[in-house]
Amino acid sequence: MKSKVTVTCPSNIALIKYWGKKDTGVQIPQNPSISWSLSDLTAKTTLQYTPGSGRQINFSYDGVPKESFLPKINDFFTRIEEIFPWVKDGIFNIDTINNFPHGTGIASSAAGFGALATALVEIEGDLDRDSSEYWNKVSELARLGSGSACRSMFSKPAVWGVSEAVENSSDFFAVELKTTIHPSLQNWKDCVLIVDSGEKKVSSTAGHSLLNGHAYANSRFTQATENLAEIVRVFEEGNVDRFIKIVESEALQLHSMMMSSIPYYMLMRPNTIAIIEEIWKFREETNLPVCFTLDAGANVHLLYSKEVESSVKTFIESNLLPYCQNAMYLCSDIGGKPQIENHD
Ligand code: DP6
Repeated sequence: MKSKVTVTCPSNIALIKYWGKKDTGVQIPQNPSISWSLSDLTAKTTLQYTPGSGRQINFSYDGVPKESFLPKINDFFTRIEEIFPWVKDGIFNIDTINNFPHGTGIASSAAGFGALATALVEIEGDLDRDSSEYWNKVSELARLGSGSACRSMFSKPAVWGVSEAVENSSDFFAVELKTTIHPSLQNWKDCVLIVDSGEKKVSSTAGHSLLNGHAYANSRFTQATENLAEIVRVFEEGNVDRFIKIVESEALQLHSMMMSSIPYYMLMRPNTIAIIEEIWKFREETNLPVCFTLDAGANVHLLYSKEVESSVKTFIESNLLPYCQNAMYLCSDIGGKPQIENHD
């Protein structure tokens, strides 16, 4: 066992969305999802472990104790006891910090649980970092913290949930897409346009449960499963037009599921729609490879190939910033995986 480790883990953005959990097991998705890691939007977590009897967890954010986070972390430790019985005992000092500012509305739980899960596997020290078992274990632990966190472990697109289109895919952990990615879909970027920096209107947990008994749920799960199989082919073949159609449709389906649930929610704001319309107009006029996706919130993720970066930057500055809160946006390269720093 090691005693102290620091891990930096990227967050990720889903292209095919995880929205809806099975009622068996913990955080088992209703449909497979696929995401890109965001290497420049990270959480850095230091975990210090001291053996002892009984469990004590201390949690701080950038050195400042944050007791409000403890219930979620405690639940996480209880869930992983089956996989890692040793976490029943000991003192766990956890300090974390995100490299993006507070109040951006960007979910940090994927990066945070990704970092903590990696740190726990490192502390245990039983698996070889170059083995797939190591990353399966990290991903499985991360899933038990937050479902989407299990996809933050891979530089290539990460698939979570059983799909006939992806070998070794699993509901328990994410795997990296093994096929060669066509050059036209390598080297993309994501700029998150901050429309609303406030707290989430619906927590993920509450959001997922809106799918229980939802009139359109089964069609949605079937469509997501089909979209996933198609996007896997698109990644190989490089059909950027199809990529754009699938990704934008997934984002709008996610929101339409929220608008048609009971209770219903409208998470887009007027500026979300204004930005989407600007993106559509820009694409029509320039024919450049740009598209959008959305999380369960009002911010817009603008995805584009790095080849057209300078035109997109000009477009953001001139057409999109007026719709962003405090003219705020954050850009990231696609890719990245947890980076580990051992202290002893
Ligand atoms: C809309 O992973 O945050 O971002 O498993 O309850 O922690 P929990 O939910 P979470 O849900 C993310 C939903 C999403 C789509 C996605 O990332 O696939």
